[in-house]
Amino acid sequence: MERTLTILKPDCVRKQLIGAVIDKIERAGFRIVTMKKTKLTTETAGEFYAVHRERPFFGELVEFMSSGPCVPMILEKENAVADFRELIGATDPAEAAEGTIRKLYADSKGENIVHGSDSAENACNEAAFFFSTEETVRVDR
Ligand code: RTP
Ligand code: MG
Repeated sequence: MERTLTILKPDCVRKQLIGAVIDKIERAGFRIVTMKKTKLTTETAGEFYAVHRERPFFGELVEFMSSGPCVPMILEKENAVADFRELIGATDPAEAAEGTIRKLYADSKGENIVHGSDSAENACNEAAFFFSTEETVRVDR
């Protein structure tokens, strides 16, 4: 079993797509280990996406990610990191495959509904960014 960290981004929450996106995630075989609704500040959003600090879109990204509540969750499945990236599709919805979450629901490359960790190591660090150790322990078995 592998874990990944996703965030249902502020556009997902604003568009009242939390349920629709969770439905896609569960139907694809992911188990929700834990989840919550929270709101990032410009500081915490900048910290989360620190790897992109020098990129031209960084300011826009931080503004967007702190523009409203979001829903981080830890997901579990075999091959979770890669399979979740496949389920969400390319960063730019215009380039995302048919049936992917971004293709279905995202408006633009910047406002693209969901985050997905890009490696198991980053998933672990990103989970710790949002959740305490107790929260990351499975409670459903
Ligand atoms: P994420 O980290 O959120 O799962 O997205 P990703 O791996 O598909 O894409 P990444 O390159 O890590 O970019 C992080 C987020 O920054 C915003 N972005 N905007 N306007 C732009 O050109 C641009 N490029 C990236 C998106 O919100 C992207 O998901
Ligand atoms: Mg990324």
